[in-house]
Amino acid sequence: MFVERVGIVGAGTMGADIAAVLLLRGIPVRLHDVEAQQLDRAADRIRAVLTQRVQRGRLPAGAVADRMALLLPSPDLSALGDVDLAIEVVPERLALKRAVLSQLDHVVPPLAILATNTSALPVRELAEATGRADRVIGCHFFFPAHTMPLVEVVRTDRTRPDVLAAAVTLWQECRKVALVVPDQPGFVVNRVLMRALAEVFRFEEETGADPAAIDAALASSGAVPMGPFRLCDALGLDVALGVADTLTRELGKRFTPSAQLVSLVAEGRLGAKVAAGGFYPPGRPTSAPDLGGSDRDRLVRRFQLAAVNEAARLLDERLATPAEIDLAMRAGAGLKQGPLSWADHEGLEEVARAMEEMKALELHGFRVPESLDRLVQQGWTGASVGRGFMQVTQ
Ligand SMILES: NC(=O)c1ccc[n+]([C@@H]2O[C@H](COP(=O)([O-])OP(=O)(O)OC[C@H]3O[C@@H](n4cnc5c(N)ncnc54)[C@H](O)[C@@H]3O)[C@@H](O)[C@H]2O)c1
Repeated sequence: MFVERVGIVGAGTMGADIAAVLLLRGIPVRLHDVEAQQLDRAADRIRAVLTQRVQRGRLPAGAVADRMALLLPSPDLSALGDVDLAIEVVPERLALKRAVLSQLDHVVPPLAILATNTSALPVRELAEATGRADRVIGCHFFFPAHTMPLVEVVRTDRTRPDVLAAAVTLWQECRKVALVVPDQPGFVVNRVLMRALAEVFRFEEETGADPAAIDAALASSGAVPMGPFRLCDALGLDVALGVADTLTRELGKRFTPSAQLVSLVAEGRLGAKVAAGGFYPPGRPTSAPDLGGSDRDRLVRRFQLAAVNEAARLLDERLATPAEIDLAMRAGAGLKQGPLSWADHEGLEEVARAMEEMKALELHGFRVPESLDRLVQQGWTGASVGRGFMQVTQ
């Protein structure tokens, strides 16, 4: 089956951006939101993305008007009556997403695929709100979707192979890396990234360091493309908290969100999408005095070790291969080097020793994962011996 028309429900940060991804490839989009104002804002954002591509010489002049003509914004859900795939991009609440998918089930044609852009909720539970659970998948994009290459295509135990293949083909046509991942909390990228971010938030709570200084230290180390506090402001603090809550509930307290994140969301300070801002309110300086050298090294190391620890747990649970995890973290989170490749270059004995030390300090969730322990025991200690995580094929 081929996807020729796509419906999107929810025209916020991600819905608008996913529409831009499709329009860039000339695929018609029906875009629905309950707020008319959101539809207008989305059209402006989509036009801005297309205009930027024309300015960079990546789209012919005149393409903006042509592509915008393929966008049908509608306050009425029935506008999605002729699509081959509909994706819900409404806020990260299980009951809301189930309600929207159930409505879509009655609106779209019987053979259409239903997709969710959930960040961490169980896709199977969402699928069961419809009468076509075998035609429901996750299509998890990353912010900003028009530039981040990855889409995690989430397969449940009910998903039909032809449905999965059609979704993978669609996103590949849109020049995305479509990685099929299992239906488990946070999939691959958010599970590893949120674990590392939780460790950064704990560092802030323990040391009282300024978020701008932490952001600068991590970004300048090359570990991340954007500091974690700035990233949360950009993608929405409510979104980050929703993911952290799901992961804490499903996988344990090592994902516990920081008290500051919880209180900012309670105050409505959701980040760049609201006037009050989030970690960076308007007028707050975006730079801060440098962290001292030893604090900076400790912070960067904790970030990296937490990411490796969670990535290796995914291996223990046989949920992904090392190559898939590192690809996902580069294409979805923008890391220059995947965490498992970083560990190989650091030396696996040293990484295991550092995790033992953090365990002894009772830092959240650090235990040496079995997959790491096994490699060290068999002498696969990393890049220096040419054998490490990245040589493990399954
Ligand atoms: N922001 C990110 O970086 C990011 C990245 C990946 C995935 N996601 C996921 O994408 C989803 C949406 O996140 P967002 O950041 O775009 O949220 P957002 O708050 O920016 O947008 C949500 C939109 O949904 C609309 N909406 C709410 N209820 C609706 C309904 N019943 N019918 C139609 N429209 C409705 C709202 O009016 C709003 O425009 C969430 O599940 C989130 O976890 C977000």
